[in-house]
Amino acid sequence: MADDRLRLLTPEDLPGILSIEKASFQDARWTVDDFLAEMERPFSFVLGLFPPARTLPAGFAPPPVPELSGPALRRLPASAPGAPRGTPARPRAPFPPKPLGAFAAFWILYGETHLMHLAVAPERRREGLGKAVLRAVLGFSVARGSGKVLLEASENNPAALALYRSEGFRVVGRRKGYYESGRADALSMTLDLPPAPCGG
Ligand SMILES: CC(C)(COP(=O)(O)OP(=O)(O)OC[C@H]1O[C@@H](n2cnc3c(N)ncnc32)[C@H](O)[C@@H]1OP(=O)(O)O)[C@@H](O)C(=O)NCCC(=O)NCCS
Repeated sequence: MADDRLRLLTPEDLPGILSIEKASFQDARWTVDDFLAEMERPFSFVLGLFPPARTLPAGFAPPPVPELSGPALRRLPASAPGAPRGTPARPRAPFPPKPLGAFAAFWILYGETHLMHLAVAPERRREGLGKAVLRAVLGFSVARGSGKVLLEASENNPAALALYRSEGFRVVGRRKGYYESGRADALSMTLDLPPAPCGG
């Protein structure tokens, strides 16, 4: 995969997946076992997007850390003993790993992609991550010879419907009472995919 922010997820990613899942779905929420089962099926994929940290707003200044100002700061050695001047006194803590920002779970079977799950971490919504992970699913599907994508979305989910429509999906059917214990219909949507480009 060309974009190093994107990769197929594995059981080690489950804490991040489940945290997004819990915050995103009341209805039909998947369990650990559901995700593990999907990760084992050869035609099933769980793709994750690890976005860079959000850019800090213009003019942002970090608050002073009291223990590291004034006399306390002056007591810190400028360099590690014996090391060339300017070398930090302590090794830096490793940078924390990037948290999962969004994921999508889908099947590619008999030339069709069935998108079953797509969610973005609540604190990272409206930044384009939903669109980015959806486009990654489309690209991944084209590369594997899929000719179309099928999905269901609740009629009461305007964000998801707008996202899918913005990528060209069209409504092709309605399933009565599919969500919210029978209170909401599912709209069945589809998108035709172009053929995979020839490889040279
Ligand atoms: C639906 C969801 C995946 C959208 O993710 P997102 O990262 O916020 O979406 P993006 O920032 O990529 O937005 C892409 C487009 O989707 C539409 N959109 C996204 N959120 C929207 C909202 N709250 N209201 C209206 N339109 C919205 C817009 O058309 C947007 O394009 P724009 O920003 O240029 O206007 C996200 O809200 C989510 O995880 N919801 C909970 C889980 C869920 O419902 N998944 C779908 C199951 S079918």
